[in-house]
Amino acid sequence: MKKIHCLNNISKCGTDRLPQDYVMTDSVGEAEGVLVRSANMHEMELPESLLAVARAGAGVNNIPLDACAQEGIVVFNTPGANANGVKEMVLAGMLIASRDLIGGIEWCRSNADDENIAKATEKSKKAFAGCEIKGKKLGVIGLGAIGAEVANAAAALGMEVYGYDPYISVNAAWMLNRDVKHITSVDKIYQECDYITIHVPLLETTRGMINKEKLDEMKEGVVVLNFARDVLVDEDAMAEALESGKVHRYVTDFPNPKSAHMKNTIVIPHLGASTEESEDNCAKMAVKELVDYLENGNIKNS
Ligand code: MLT
Repeated sequence: MKKIHCLNNISKCGTDRLPQDYVMTDSVGEAEGVLVRSANMHEMELPESLLAVARAGAGVNNIPLDACAQEGIVVFNTPGANANGVKEMVLAGMLIASRDLIGGIEWCRSNADDENIAKATEKSKKAFAGCEIKGKKLGVIGLGAIGAEVANAAAALGMEVYGYDPYISVNAAWMLNRDVKHITSVDKIYQECDYITIHVPLLETTRGMINKEKLDEMKEGVVVLNFARDVLVDEDAMAEALESGKVHRYVTDFPNPKSAHMKNTIVIPHLGASTEESEDNCAKMAVKELVDYLENGNIKNS
């Protein structure tokens, strides 16, 4: 019998796949395996019984990797399992940023009781007019599963797409379609792109990578999208760039008191991977990896 503790609500279609002799425990106390989504494990005491942690998601910054390594606890994540969900959200973010949908929706709500609302739309059409993304330049920084999906989808929508990744693997390059230009210097993205989206893990080298210097390099009126991790962007510098109009819109999947108050920011409450499909895929992959390790000693991210 193996004991598993779930630190978050992990989709049932994953936990249903645990073998019959596995039990779910209420506390991490004697667990051999932990399933986790976004719960912060850094302050948690790791029990001696713990053999493996499986994260139902891509980023592992909520897991104390060094402490796990020291204790011989294996950590898994689920690369690619939620890539389609995040890709669709990035596309939505680009479109919302370009067409002022939020302004338009709010306008309709606040004029809902106006009998002449239909006539008034003549004015609102001008007030909320936007631009199309077709033909615009998109820079994708980070070409893992999510970045590659975003790049391909944006190319299919007629954008001119540039992809950069200093660690690009043969697999990721293969995942890019012919319409995506794989570049080896990120400068072109900062200097020339109309939209910039970041899809890199949080590392000491990526923390604050979108800072004042990089924002200064960017094109006037650029749209920046962050569906990766909040601290990749220096939000003080971003607030200034939004205030001056250098950045037209900042789309972030990470609400905090600063981002929620910044001008021209579209803040989403970390919903990139919050679809039934992505949650199911992540849960299934996490459980598969965990069980394969606990049963067979296999260490492989699916
Ligand atoms: C991820 O790292 O893939 C996301 O944070 C997933 C999530 O929202 O749980």
